[in-house]
Amino acid sequence: MDEVDGVGGVDGVDRYAAAATGWATGASRVYGPLAAALVAAAPHPLEGRRVLDAGAGTGLASAALRAVGAHPVALDRSPAMLGWDAAARPPAVAGALEAVPLRDGCVDDTVAAFVLNHVDDPTAALRELARVTRPGGAVLASLPAATSSHRAVRNRIDAVVVDAGWVPPDWHAHLTTVQAPQLGDVAAAGRAARDAGLHVLAVTEHVADVGVERAEDLVDYRLGQAHVAAWLEGMSDAERAALRAAAVDAVRPVMAPYRPPVITLVARVP
Ligand SMILES: C[S@@+](CC[C@H](N)C(=O)[O-])C[C@H]1O[C@@H](n2cnc3c(N)ncnc32)[C@H](O)[C@@H]1O
Repeated sequence: MDEVDGVGGVDGVDRYAAAATGWATGASRVYGPLAAALVAAAPHPLEGRRVLDAGAGTGLASAALRAVGAHPVALDRSPAMLGWDAAARPPAVAGALEAVPLRDGCVDDTVAAFVLNHVDDPTAALRELARVTRPGGAVLASLPAATSSHRAVRNRIDAVVVDAGWVPPDWHAHLTTVQAPQLGDVAAAGRAARDAGLHVLAVTEHVADVGVERAEDLVDYRLGQAHVAAWLEGMSDAERAALRAAAVDAVRPVMAPYRPPVITLVARVP
């Protein structure tokens, strides 16, 4: 297996180096509501508590945490994602879930929104999150469920970008075929949390209403994701606008409200 270098991530490459703008302005249409839902799943009020936002990205869960009066600390292996709107963000630490650069029990609670699906060993990552969270604190995680029924619609968008010359990066194939499926169902997520020494309070799968009903919003979400963002960055504004318009045209005939199935883990540190 590749080495983890702590900041750049596995093999030292920042997959999200060019993704911050797309994430914050596009993918956030879906991940923003999902981050708020994860924070709302906390088993106790988070107001006044120091909460680690693990895999914080551009800070969607941090914002949701602040909205309920918590004091987030952001952790991400991508300095570029942490750099988005940094002046308005909470304190941040560049580092990996595989070896969180924080002391034992130094945060009250931890949230991990859509990041455990990016690691090779999610049980080890959960153990790290449990280690840095003080006893009695909550560990909350969200994950994409394997049961997604939206592939056909998303594939239309992907077909447009493939036609325009996009080649899926190898890391994304590893993410979708190896990493994400490890925790793609309720049983697997619960087992990983228990193996990490956590007391599982609830693991659920539900279809989330994120309010994305227009083809334009679905396309902006999809084109804002990291696996296409770096490629889009290399385009002119006019080329990007033409691609977006083609993707919207491809999706509109089959567009239905986007309701991704999500696994939510609610656990406590013993
Ligand atoms: C899908 S994004 C989710 C971002 C944010 N939590 C949200 O919900 O909008 C995944 C984030 O996790 C980060 N990440 C991926 N693997 C990581 C790891 N092993 N350690 C720390 N961060 C990681 C990426 O850099 C990226 O910012």
